[in-house]
Amino acid sequence: MRTTVPRSNIDVHLKETRLFKPDRAFSKATGLDLKTYKKWLRSGKATPEKYWEAAAQELTWHKKWKKTLKWTPPHAQWFVGGKLNGAENCLDRHLPLHGNKAALVWEGEPGEVFTWTYRQLHREVEKFTALLRNTGLKPGDRVAIYMPLVMESIVAMLACARGGFTHTVIFGGFGAEALKDRINDAAAKVVVTADYGWRKGLQVKLREQVDAALKNCPTVEHVVLLERAFSGRMTDGFSESLGRGTRVSQPKHLGRATVLLWHDALAAVSETQRKNFGGIESVDAEHPLFILYTSGTTGKPKGLVHSTGGYLAGALRTAKIVFDLKLTDVYWCTADIGWITGHSYVVYGPLAAAGTVFLYEGAPTHPTPDRFWNMIARHRVSIFYTAPTAIRSFMRLGNELPKKHDLSSLRVLGSVGEPINPEAWMWYHDIIGGGRCPIVDTYWQTETGAIVISPLPGFIATKPGSATRPLPGYDVDVVDKAGKSVKNGTGGYLVIRKPWPSMARTIHGDPERFKKQYFSEFKGGVYFTGDGARRDRDGYIWCLGRVDDVLNVSGHRLGTMEVESALVSHPAVAEAAVVGRPDELKGQGIVAFVTLKASHAAQLRGNLSEKAQFESLLKGHVVKQIGALARPDEIRFTKNLPKTRSGKIMRRLLRELATNGTVQGDTTTLEDLSVIAALQKDEE
Ligand code: PRX
Repeated sequence: MRTTVPRSNIDVHLKETRLFKPDRAFSKATGLDLKTYKKWLRSGKATPEKYWEAAAQELTWHKKWKKTLKWTPPHAQWFVGGKLNGAENCLDRHLPLHGNKAALVWEGEPGEVFTWTYRQLHREVEKFTALLRNTGLKPGDRVAIYMPLVMESIVAMLACARGGFTHTVIFGGFGAEALKDRINDAAAKVVVTADYGWRKGLQVKLREQVDAALKNCPTVEHVVLLERAFSGRMTDGFSESLGRGTRVSQPKHLGRATVLLWHDALAAVSETQRKNFGGIESVDAEHPLFILYTSGTTGKPKGLVHSTGGYLAGALRTAKIVFDLKLTDVYWCTADIGWITGHSYVVYGPLAAAGTVFLYEGAPTHPTPDRFWNMIARHRVSIFYTAPTAIRSFMRLGNELPKKHDLSSLRVLGSVGEPINPEAWMWYHDIIGGGRCPIVDTYWQTETGAIVISPLPGFIATKPGSATRPLPGYDVDVVDKAGKSVKNGTGGYLVIRKPWPSMARTIHGDPERFKKQYFSEFKGGVYFTGDGARRDRDGYIWCLGRVDDVLNVSGHRLGTMEVESALVSHPAVAEAAVVGRPDELKGQGIVAFVTLKASHAAQLRGNLSEKAQFESLLKGHVVKQIGALARPDEIRFTKNLPKTRSGKIMRRLLRELATNGTVQGDTTTLEDLSVIAALQKDEE
């Protein structure tokens, strides 16, 4: 095992005694009464396959599966032999009853609002599918989507699903290098992007990043470019004169790829083409719906591959029961579609449930700090799902801002991405939820595809700071190093003992890494989450955070190695070690210890202003390499890094130093004690 379970601020959590009773009025959405819930829990544990079969039956299939589960660890296959289509499950099947119901309600940062019904969204997706097919794509080919949060991003995802093309959405905050690596790893043939999106009143120029990335992406043949000024307007139905911006000329080629302008290319798709080429590709249940990159313990991000049938069954079932999602709800999950939360709970889960999804493009506090509350009030949002970092930053802004707005439409509040501290939980509950909305603190991962641990509003009493109990269908456990279940009241490693349908199937191009990363720590096909957890006396689970070299900054996952690789790619840097330190707002902040090459170090020695300038230059370099989410909070220059005699950097000591300013831990394996002394004195 790599490290021990961190204790951090969890001691505070574990003293928490408040208990909020469930509200039995909830959860009629799926016919989920207490009896059914108890039955589900029992069958989820004893016969999980039965439980998940029932969940899969809520999807539309072209061909029923022959076998529910084939499990040769670490390879799971669910609903083997079944055939279906991802987009059909989110669109076509809703048309007869809900065709005129709002599917997407979108607000751009500058303030424009557009609504697409299921019928309208379906039509756009059909046309975009035809366009993708026209580029020569075949089922299984990869499409990279690098977009702002506009309705077209969802059109692109669903069109991929419709044609059987595997999408890989790359978060718009990533820079050119990160973009290039992901496009190349996936060997994408098409990139879907936009000229820009809005964030904090500024244009985020996505196309410029694509421009730079595509200089080194030999597999890309076509780029579909959305001009943001025309977003939210369908090519038929709205007049060009409604456009907010003037159209500027765009390049015809990026790298070797031909550029297709979204609106022109869609307008060129004739009705006949839409009908003939916009149709559904019937795919196997195991067909890869998407690849999503996330950070691991090495510098290279992992492309987790998710299936179609199992993934959708998990996303749909959990979206319905965790959020009590009903047809009448206006549902808002604030995640970007570049993350798994955006995949499962902005797009696939709620749309498969025929929900009405609200989307917002921009920054939470722009142009005024009450933008979120203002939108909840205006759009009458009833389910709101966000991250603890956001909750904590709103909390800092005070109670007056939410109190100015009518938040009475809210009925369920969700939290995801990192542990939520009880203080933030209580604020969310009292100030945003008016004391009447249950909070679902949902624990899960990119790898799990769907929520694993969470209260259900109607059945589980909540404790501020705990994700409470595993959902039906998951065999979750907290174990010791030997893989033995720990007693209640004890900490250990969070594992899932049996396979579940929405689990990632492999790492794209690296099945060995998949096995090593998740299934080698414990025997018998037990999945290791990489998280530490405590199970309290009532059997409630409290996630303690990662036990590996993965950071969680504002709910975003980042490998320490990724940031280190970005730092050492700068010509002046000889060596770098990156550690996380607790941060009140972001959960974790990034501290980098950097050794410079001799000539650069000599230049900076003693020159404080140059040092500060160089620190900000290096931070900028990391942002350029990875994206703003990886910007180090602090860079400390040092002549040497503390190492063991065998040459391994002692990150434990650096973590201690970054957190407490001193080192008290065991330094016996350290090769050169003077390094720590120098670092404590902040000497180069
Ligand atoms: O450490 C856990 C933390 O986020 C990690 C997963 O990150 P990612 O794959 O990016 O997915 C985030 C959104 C699902 C986990 O290993 N995490 C996620 N949710 C919670 C959490 N930690 C505590 N409580 C949560 N509710």
